[in-house]
Amino acid sequence: MTQDSIIRLQGVQKSFGAVKVLDGVTFDVQRGQVAVIIGRSGSGKSTALRCIDRLERIDAGEITVCGHRLSDPALDLRTLRQDVGIVF
Ligand SMILES: Nc1ncnc2c1ncn2[C@@H]1O[C@H](COP(=O)(O)OP(=O)(O)O)[C@@H](O)[C@H]1O
Ligand SMILES: [Mg+2]
Repeated sequence: MTQDSIIRLQGVQKSFGAVKVLDGVTFDVQRGQVAVIIGRSGSGKSTALRCIDRLERIDAGEITVCGHRLSDPALDLRTLRQDVGIVF
């Protein structure tokens, strides 16, 4: 993670029942960078975004957004969402 990483996913795993949707997803987005996630329908794009906003909990790995470590038990969701939002 460079100093300017604003979003970082590392080894993120997420399943719904037996369906493994995210299997070790790792990427960084830098401050000021515009990033696009492309994939076929059902490949997990929306799930990844929902995990970044903590609408979904991940099973393994680590997500950091604007300095908020989403696995932090003390994470305050209202504080997180002052820094990250999704337009559906
Ligand atoms: N809440 C959920 N419960 C069970 N399965 C889900 C749920 N959300 C998504 N899925 C499944 O996860 C997979 C990825 O879905 P999704 O992230 O919506 O893909 P995309 O946005 O790339 O089209 C699909 O197989 C979908 O059916
Ligand atoms: Mg989608």
